[in-house]
Amino acid sequence: MNNILVPQTGFTGKHLTGEKIDKAVRKISDLSSIFNDEAAFAAAPPDKIVYEVESYLPVKDGTTGGLFFGITHLHPGMVGNEYFMTKGHFHKLADRGEFYWGIEGEGMLILMDKNRKTWAEKMYPGSLHYIDGYIAHRTANTGSGIFSFGACWPSDAGHDYDIISQHGFSKILVEENGTPVLIDRVKD
Ligand SMILES: [Fe+2]
Repeated sequence: MNNILVPQTGFTGKHLTGEKIDKAVRKISDLSSIFNDEAAFAAAPPDKIVYEVESYLPVKDGTTGGLFFGITHLHPGMVGNEYFMTKGHFHKLADRGEFYWGIEGEGMLILMDKNRKTWAEKMYPGSLHYIDGYIAHRTANTGSGIFSFGACWPSDAGHDYDIISQHGFSKILVEENGTPVLIDRVKD
């Protein structure tokens, strides 16, 4: 025993490898009340995969001072004129920040502050995004292929999905004439 260890977890640049990686799949049927166009959502195939997440959670969820690492692969697609996107969340410990970075494909990071002011940042291979605390975040695939991005966040941050699933973001990202545009969400 020479005290030199071989890591049991790897990062290939696009995928996490090793036995300790958690994998999750989100299908259309897992994303009710996320998309604005309810008729288009009801008509979409429920088993269609919208995104897959690979996570390395080396400490127990909620641990102070630890870090989590994840890679998300968003599939291309639309529900109505809205791009496929992640659920979006605030952090449960709301002051916790997070890094995102683009790996492959084209996407958008959609951000909203506590006062429901919403804006977006383009994501592409090599783009780096610091998400401050108290900012809700979600991503959308605006390209024609897989959009993959990385994330690193504090292990005590947690996820608060409730506010977003109940009230959404104040703006939605839609395709207009082939271009992504952030527009006010029209309430029902
Ligand atoms: Fe987050």
